[in-house]
Amino acid sequence: MAAPRDWIARPERALHGSLRVPGDKSVSHRALMLGALAEGTTRISGFLEGEDTVATGHIFGRMGVRIDAPSVGERRVHGVGLHGLQPPGAALDCGNSGTGMRLLAGLLSGQGFDSELVGDGSLSGRPMRRVVDPLSRMGALITTANGGTPPLAIQGGRALRGTRHVLPVASAQVKSALLLAGLYAQGTTRVQEPRPTRDYTERKLAAFGWPVDYRPGEATLDGGHRLHATDVAVPADFSSAAFFLVAASVVPGSALWLSGVGLNPRRTGLLEALRLMGANIEVHEPREQGGEPVGDLYVRHAPLAGIEVPEALVPDMIDEFPALFVAAACASGETVVRGAAELRVKESDRIAAMANGLRALGATVHETPDGALIRGPLASGGEVDACGDHRIAMAFAVAGQCTPAPVRIRDVANVATSFPDFGQLAAGCGMGLGETA
Ligand code: S3P
Repeated sequence: MAAPRDWIARPERALHGSLRVPGDKSVSHRALMLGALAEGTTRISGFLEGEDTVATGHIFGRMGVRIDAPSVGERRVHGVGLHGLQPPGAALDCGNSGTGMRLLAGLLSGQGFDSELVGDGSLSGRPMRRVVDPLSRMGALITTANGGTPPLAIQGGRALRGTRHVLPVASAQVKSALLLAGLYAQGTTRVQEPRPTRDYTERKLAAFGWPVDYRPGEATLDGGHRLHATDVAVPADFSSAAFFLVAASVVPGSALWLSGVGLNPRRTGLLEALRLMGANIEVHEPREQGGEPVGDLYVRHAPLAGIEVPEALVPDMIDEFPALFVAAACASGETVVRGAAELRVKESDRIAAMANGLRALGATVHETPDGALIRGPLASGGEVDACGDHRIAMAFAVAGQCTPAPVRIRDVANVATSFPDFGQLAAGCGMGLGETA
């Protein structure tokens, strides 16, 4: 079935039941990449079957890595070792995925062959100098389009040198690109961040046997080691769970379980923000799965009140602002977001996309360069544009559970990049959401 273009969201009933959202996108990308460069066969379970991660799998296939998919959510990656990738022969298509492109820019800088990375319309407008400039300081040679955007042409056969990087922007993608280049560099690569970001690359490198020293805000490794295949159990993606956490919080009468959700502290900022707003979310059976904290979340409806979102939480909830904006529009009082300028360079300008859509539904939103002031209620139905951005589409599906009339959400096909089954899972637990051609 072709992906639907538009959704109609309307309040139906309270959310109930228990569901497991798909595997974590960040972890799935890294498991494929490190599995490809490892010696031996890496078994991945809980792999995200989304367009972004599938694109990364195809890219390694093009470079001679055999990746089997014995069943949905499982992969066997037959690693070729650090120096075993083959020249791809044509441009490598990252689709919509900024993570894929930025991490691969680092990894491919260390290869003996030339390569080119391309992406879809959205990715082709996203800033790449943030990875290209520090990689150049390590000796990489990468050219971009005018304006520092894709495609990226990466010259092979460069001798990389370990470098100390002090990053101006808190970005796990940039940090990870530099660490992956550091695998091929002579000497020590150190990355220091203005605020700590998700540490999956560091954790996974350690799991694949590469010595890496890391603490919040800093990671260090030396070149010249080897990666050894391992098994990776991917937790459910907190960013996908986020839409259900907000939906169940704002729809009266709701009570919902979300099982096996990844609770890496660098990802759970929304949990804290929602609790500050008055949300009722419990963590049950916290446990470790494949070196990652996971737990089952139980969320019940609770009246929310606006807050000033603490700036220190911003990197820990950077992908959750579309959901947070909806929670804010359903809360009493005003919510203030600051220090989140990065939202302007995600799959869409997420501040503008959310502000425009929420205004169309009757909320009052004042945009600032690095955030917004948001005040509900969502007083009307209407039509909103997802701007081809998966998280904007899903956020407005949640918003449509709180409006007095239906909401038509345009341009939702990209939900398949991170959460292809969102529509079915949402409808299954009580949300009113239908597809239109
Ligand atoms: C990601 C890092 C974040 C996040 C993205 C995934 C990753 O991007 O927004 O969805 O997997 O490293 P930035 O590094 O640009 O903040």
